[in-house]
Amino acid sequence: MRQPSDVIVVGGGVIGLVTAWRAALKGLRVEVLDPEPGRGAAQVAAGMLAAVTELQYGEQTLLRLNLASSARYPSFVAELEDASGMDCGYRRCGTLAVALDADDRAQLRELHTFQTSMGLEASWLTGRECRRLEPMLAPGVRGGLRVDGDHQVDPRRLVAALLQACLHAGVRRHLVAAREIRVADGRARAVVLDDGRVLAADQIVLAAGSRSDRLEGLPEDVVPPVRPVKGQVLRLRVPRAHAPFLSRTVRAVVRGGHVYLVPRENGELVVGATSEEMGDDTTVTAGGVYELLRDAHELVPGITELPLVETCAGLRPGSPDNAPLIGPTDLPGLVLATGHYRNGILLTAVTGDLMAEILATGTVPEQALPFAPQRFGAARRTAPQTAPEATARELTARELTARELQEVAS
Ligand code: GLY
Repeated sequence: MRQPSDVIVVGGGVIGLVTAWRAALKGLRVEVLDPEPGRGAAQVAAGMLAAVTELQYGEQTLLRLNLASSARYPSFVAELEDASGMDCGYRRCGTLAVALDADDRAQLRELHTFQTSMGLEASWLTGRECRRLEPMLAPGVRGGLRVDGDHQVDPRRLVAALLQACLHAGVRRHLVAAREIRVADGRARAVVLDDGRVLAADQIVLAAGSRSDRLEGLPEDVVPPVRPVKGQVLRLRVPRAHAPFLSRTVRAVVRGGHVYLVPRENGELVVGATSEEMGDDTTVTAGGVYELLRDAHELVPGITELPLVETCAGLRPGSPDNAPLIGPTDLPGLVLATGHYRNGILLTAVTGDLMAEILATGTVPEQALPFAPQRFGAARRTAPQTAPEATARELTARELTARELQEVAS
């Protein structure tokens, strides 16, 4: 007889793994399901911790969570490095956001006013001051914002460290995809794996990034409203002879798109990122690479000298309001940690803390309340395709029979 675990986490990306690790540290028995843990968006992401430079109008609530996670990062990384024995590539280097023409300059000035009104630290620099700070910048740079609090982490190292920390904390891994959530007596009870096995748990966490809406068996009104938003990214290498090429993250808005250059201590230079609504497509396209190189070249002309070592594409888990879904759902036993969109790496630290608290105590910390998955519920319940009758019929059809429940427990 197999004892149900306390928690099953569906998805072994940074969010799933940090949830598993922190929950295990609280004494919970945790299992993670993923055919290729750590191989998703973390392999593509640049790892900017850009709470201030990526501030958007209307996202003040998200800003608070982003800032909290940014502040938590140093101690989070210290704990994780201690637990895993691995370096996470956290670098306190700051960010410079620059303007290439008069329109960009006006836009950046507005952002600065907004940042200042929110009490955030950012200082305005002239073009000359920007170039003094980063001599590789294009001579035409018109001005910029120096944000000393927006740092970076290496997501590939981060996810590797999380995998190791999970292992040390006793988290069990199943290298297989989840296919279905089994619901019985109005509660999520178990997960059906692609290989046909059924694993039961007291709580099931859906943390499968942009694929979190793909599992069968869930009542429609608890399926997370996530969608994939494609990002193409390049990796270049700065030979020793060219170092230091950039000393901090440099970014700009060029022709309406974001371009950023993130220099790692090991000489890697990450250039990102496109933002494309293309469904599940992760093809690297000539157009995507061209646009990134063109925009990055406008910003830092010298990049054309550097070896291009990798091109890749990943999927951000977008949500309707660009903020994550963290916490219990209307289906008891089902908890969400998904929809982190552009802030998955930044929010890893705080998401781990919040999820561990929720899973261990059953209470939702105040900080997580604005990100409750139910905030999208009202709109969906009034939508024609989720008429109460249809939902009720569907639920009944998906309830487990008594025999199936026995299988789940055995
Ligand atoms: N936060 C960077 C990106 O999503 O491209």
